[in-house]
Amino acid sequence: MNYDKDQVAELFDNKLEHIESRPDDAMFKQVGSKALEALELDKNDILLDAGTGAGNNAMKAALSCSRVIGIDISRKSLDRAGIKASEKGFENLEFLYGSIEEPNEGTDLTSYGINKILVNYALHHLPDELKKQGLANLAGIMKRPGRMVIGDIMFFEDPEAHLEKFEEAGYDGGEYDHPSTMGFLKNTLEDLGASVRVERLHPLAGVMIADFL
Ligand SMILES: C[S@@+](CC[C@H](N)C(=O)[O-])C[C@H]1O[C@@H](n2cnc3c(N)ncnc32)[C@H](O)[C@@H]1O
Repeated sequence: MNYDKDQVAELFDNKLEHIESRPDDAMFKQVGSKALEALELDKNDILLDAGTGAGNNAMKAALSCSRVIGIDISRKSLDRAGIKASEKGFENLEFLYGSIEEPNEGTDLTSYGINKILVNYALHHLPDELKKQGLANLAGIMKRPGRMVIGDIMFFEDPEAHLEKFEEAGYDGGEYDHPSTMGFLKNTLEDLGASVRVERLHPLAGVMIADFL
C-alpha cells in the first residue's frame, strides 16, 4: 500500500475548494455532526481536532468548549481555517501543523491539557500500522479521563458488496483512502485501554467513541 504524507497534504491543498463546496448531506458532514455530538463538549474541555481541514468542526466545537487546537498536514487548509476563525472573531481556537501519526511534530501538545480528541474523516488516509501509531500517540497526549471520537469511513460490511456505495461514503476505492474495518479500529482502541462504543451510519462509515479513564 502506498502512503506518502506529503502527497496526501498536496492532494488536500489542491482539493480544498471542492471539499468546502460539498453538499451538507455528504456522508462526511453527517458523520462529522454525529461525532461532534458524541464529544459531549462542555465549557471546561480542551479539544484537539486532528486532521481539521478548513476547521469547520473546530469552529463549531469552539462555541461549546474552552479551547480548540486544530492540526493538519495541509498548510493551505490550515491557512484557510485560520482566516475563517479570525473573521468570525474566535479567540479560543488555533491551527497548527501536525500529523495524526506524529501529533507533536510541529508543536509539543503534551502540556495543552487536551482531554477530548476528534478525528473526522482523516484517519482513513493512513495505512493500518500508522493508524495504530497515530491512535497511540494521540491517546498519549490526552489527559485522563479523556474521550476520543473517530468519525470516518470504516467497514461494517465487506466493501466489495457495496461498490455502488463507495462514492456516497466518500471512499475512493483505495487510491488515497485506506479505511480499516470497524473491528480493527475498535480492537486498536481497546488495546490502548479505552472502552469503546460504535455507531454505524452506513455500511461503510460510522462513529467510534473511545473513553479513556
Ligand atoms: C476530508 S478532510 C476532513 C476535514 C475535517 N476533519 C472535516 O471533517 O471537515 C481530511 C483532512 O485530513 C487531513 N489529513 C490527511 N492525512 C493526515 C495526517 N496523516 N495527519 C493529519 N491530517 C491529515 C487532510 O489534509 C484533510 O485536511
